[in-house]
Amino acid sequence: MATADRPYDLVVWGATGFAGRLVAEYLTRQYGPDAVSLALGGRSRERLDALERDLVRQRERWDSVPVVVGDATEPERLRDITRRTRVICTTVGPYTTYGTPLVEACVETGTEYCDLTGEINWIRETVDRFHDEAVDAETRIVHSCGFDSVPADVGTLLVQSFAAEAYDAHCDRVQIYLESGDGGVSGGTLASFAELFDAASDDPTARQTLADPYSLAPPGEREGDDPGEQRWPRNDRLRPGWTAPSPMAPVNERVVRRSSALLGYPWGRGFRCTEVVPTGSGVAGAVGAGVVAGGIGLFRAAMSVDPIRSGIRRFVFPDPGEGPTREQIENGHFTVRLLGRGTADDGSFVVEAEFGAALDPGYGATARMLAESAICLLRDDTDTQLTGGVVTPASGVGEPLAERLRDVGFTITVGERDGPLDA
Ligand SMILES: NC(=O)c1ccc[n+]([C@@H]2O[C@H](COP(=O)([O-])OP(=O)(O)OC[C@H]3O[C@@H](n4cnc5c(N)ncnc54)[C@H](OP(=O)(O)O)[C@@H]3O)[C@@H](O)[C@H]2O)c1
Repeated sequence: MATADRPYDLVVWGATGFAGRLVAEYLTRQYGPDAVSLALGGRSRERLDALERDLVRQRERWDSVPVVVGDATEPERLRDITRRTRVICTTVGPYTTYGTPLVEACVETGTEYCDLTGEINWIRETVDRFHDEAVDAETRIVHSCGFDSVPADVGTLLVQSFAAEAYDAHCDRVQIYLESGDGGVSGGTLASFAELFDAASDDPTARQTLADPYSLAPPGEREGDDPGEQRWPRNDRLRPGWTAPSPMAPVNERVVRRSSALLGYPWGRGFRCTEVVPTGSGVAGAVGAGVVAGGIGLFRAAMSVDPIRSGIRRFVFPDPGEGPTREQIENGHFTVRLLGRGTADDGSFVVEAEFGAALDPGYGATARMLAESAICLLRDDTDTQLTGGVVTPASGVGEPLAERLRDVGFTITVGERDGPLDA
């Protein structure tokens, strides 16, 4: 645990932001100072002190929580902080703008790291710049530890582990269904989303990253059979009904493909994964799929035009720091279902997993996913062979994360699929 050299087990970097505050609240509610030596990090001492006062008032076990102040753009200051820290979890975004110096500091000082990014252009940048160094430093940089991409990535791992154990085989296809959800979106998330389009408008590598389904795979391995995300309504491949494209597929599918590559392709080189939104059967299902696909297509088209994007950012999106109400967070919910299809010696099989929680996905549930990912890194409660690198939740932490999330109220199940299939 914390040592004289590294007095902080865990720093919540960006603790004064919308998501960061929820992470700090969760950690101080779930763990005491004897279990984790925690610090709150950010750029404003005044706001951090105010947060610390609130937390200490609400939590009997905590008399104080240390505060570390620094700017995300000051590499030397970041190194000072990471040198004294064992694990840092960061919600300072947009990551494309603010994230790189912290990753660099963590790799240099051997500090484990996890974040909430869904900015695949930036993940690609850290993969290209820091993966090899992080491997050498035996330091894990774990991206996407929130709603993107823990349910999809760790869910796929659970499906594949079940297939290996029950059938001595793997699934050559996993389909991820964003089945239901209720929650809100913060200004910070929308700013990060807009950042992806900003990057794509003037950076050819970012454009290529968004276009290539294998863009987050290791260099030299950025090709394969998977055509990438579904763009139109279509009949489900694995069960009756219609499906629409998922807004999170560009992130989640690439993260799962990176996991597959980093784990050494245990599910075969031909492994495919697709994330979709199920819309039901019959005419209503087809119409629903058309509406979702059309809405996503229109929104993407609008965000790709610079002046329209600036207008949407300015007049439609909430400001950074704003987000859903406490009531929305606590009364939200989500269910992600995964179906994996494979072939064993005695025929084909389907594995089904469910990953959900009675919390809104982007904030209440995300705060727990990030916090528990950090606790897994801190306690080395991981089941992966990878001790360093720019990794994913499945390849850098693994199934212990699912066990921890189950313990704090998530519904996470995996088993044989019951019922008929039409594929
Ligand atoms: N993957 C997921 O499922 C998921 C879910 C939720 C959020 N997210 C991501 O998490 C990130 C944060 O979202 P949010 O809604 O919490 O955003 P937010 O409310 O705007 O918070 C951003 C935080 O960054 C801090 N910050 C900004 N500039 C900084 C600088 N130069 N130096 C140090 N700190 C700085 C802010 O400090 P101040 O308080 O001082 O302004 C604040 O603490 C976004 O990138 C979002 O996309 C992902």
